[in-house]
Amino acid sequence: MLEDISKILFTEDEIKARVTELGRQISEDFKGEDIVVIGLLKGCFIFIADLMRAIDANVAVDFMLVSSYGAGVVSSGEIKVRKDYSIDIEGKNVLVIDDILDTGRTLAFVKDYLMVKSPKTIKLCTLLDKPERRTSKVSVDYVGFSVPDEFVVGYGLDYDEKYRNLPYIGVLRPEAYT
Ligand code: IMP
Ligand code: MG
Repeated sequence: MLEDISKILFTEDEIKARVTELGRQISEDFKGEDIVVIGLLKGCFIFIADLMRAIDANVAVDFMLVSSYGAGVVSSGEIKVRKDYSIDIEGKNVLVIDDILDTGRTLAFVKDYLMVKSPKTIKLCTLLDKPERRTSKVSVDYVGFSVPDEFVVGYGLDYDEKYRNLPYIGVLRPEAYT
């Protein structure tokens, strides 16, 4: 597996330290109020598991599966809700968690989609941000790390369902997907 990775961007220890910091910041910002965390499957599952244990508050967790990507590395642009969340979010503090903010279409769509249900507040959190690729205007409240415009995998992020189990985040060699 390692031979498909050209460069390690963030080691297991670096990720752990940053996730702890994010958890502390989120705990301070929400000032002890309850939070409903909605994770966007599947890429968020490892991040969310670590992040929610770093948050000092009552945290409910739910998931949505929305997709704009097929098996490729380029977004098809069209977003579909394939699995919806089920917790009632009306009047609640909602924190949406994604693995990576690329064009921004997914988070912009999900924010609008959840807004309609009248949450008390809605905040967005992404582990990774590829700012160079942004096409949709979306402002994110919490970002783990910025990454260059390369395809990255590991710590939950996949290419064609592979590499999610890597404990670090690395750049996938183009040869692995061409
Ligand atoms: P957006 O709607 O373009 O912001 O796309 C966000 C989604 O695209 C993420 O949740 C990922 O599933 C996927 N994605 C974008 N870039 C990468 C990458 O470098 N590695 C793995 N998945 C990615
Ligand atoms: Mg994905």
